Amino acid sequence: LLKQNERESLFIVLNFAKTYFAELLTNHDEGQSIGLSYFRERGFTTPTIQAFELGYSLNSWDGLLQEAERRGYSRDLLEKAGLILNKTDDGGSKRDRVFDRFRGRVMFPIHNVSGRVIAFGARILVNDKNQPKYLNSPETEVYHKSAVLYGIYQAKQTIRQEDVCYLTEGYTDVISLHQAGIKNVVASSGTSLTIEQIRLIGRFTQNVTILYDGDAAGIKAALRGLDMVLEEGLNVSIVTFPDGEDPDSYVRRVGAEAFKAYIKSHTSDFIRFKTDVLLRDAGDNPFKRAEVIGEVVSSIIRIPDALQRQVFFRTTAAQLRVDEQTLISEGNRLMRKQQ
Ligand code: CTP
Ligand code: MN
Ligand code: MN
Ligand code: MN
Ligand code: MN
Repeated sequence: LLKQNERESLFIVLNFAKTYFAELLTNHDEGQSIGLSYFRERGFTTPTIQAFELGYSLNSWDGLLQEAERRGYSRDLLEKAGLILNKTDDGGSKRDRVFDRFRGRVMFPIHNVSGRVIAFGARILVNDKNQPKYLNSPETEVYHKSAVLYGIYQAKQTIRQEDVCYLTEGYTDVISLHQAGIKNVVASSGTSLTIEQIRLIGRFTQNVTILYDGDAAGIKAALRGLDMVLEEGLNVSIVTFPDGEDPDSYVRRVGAEAFKAYIKSHTSDFIRFKTDVLLRDAGDNPFKRAEVIGEVVSSIIRIPDALQRQVFFRTTAAQLRVDEQTLISEGNRLMRKQQ
């Protein structure tokens, strides 16, 4: 019961912080001239800002702390919620210095499936090598980063309706696609995809389409992600973007309709995606080309359903023009090796 009360208190103080940041964004001079104009430059409309409850944190040491204490929230609770930092000042005085974790950043509240705020992501306004671009809440009693998908609350209904979930890397990918009318979209938010996140998607659909950034890191993460999705028994497709683009930049450049058309024409099944990526690296080397086949087989054997595996062996044999029986024996060999 104590734990339950503590969780409830955390939800309440996090909700207070969300409202505080949101009001600064729309009603405060600094929030408007810095935060709101940042979001406007990124093309976010007012309904979008409201749907994601975006906000702004003042460029001051303890704006949130002061307002929170005025309203009776304890420092202990604010610290447990990840909203303030408590650092002992070693500069001789040994006094504690207590201050806001988020300062001078635009704020992205992170909601759980039922819409309660459990954490924040916070972006600096101007990229700076000496500071992380995004600062995120620490793990708390209500925020387990590995189990959360950004945007799931705003997306869940449409994921069910469309029976597919688009999986992106970042906060702004989710927000821009939502604004473009593609609402069945979530982000793994920088963490490499986890089993818990895939199971969360699995509560709403069996179909995942990965829309990671079009750079080397995004392709690598997609290769890893697709194996994990297959292993959880879900279906996976991949859309790749031109190098240097992510779903947010791409939809802003080409517009909503062209983006939807792009997804339609650039969705690959995992076999096509994997062979395309790996064959590009293999060049003309016949040994490396043969290894690609083994790599595709190693993905197929992760699929728990035997009938599905059989179908994929058949498609792969046709796509790669190799003998189906050879693929199946290679699959059996790899499966035995793993046991
Ligand atoms: N991320 C993070 N901390 C960082 C960098 C990234 O937590 N220092 C997470 C964020 O959730 C971010 C995601 O990883 O949204 C993807 O990173 P990246 O592609 O670099 O950022 P974008 O989402 O494209 O952000 P922006 O468009 O604002 O640059
Ligand atoms: Mn817990
Ligand atoms: Mn990226
Ligand atoms: Mn981006
Ligand atoms: Mn990105």
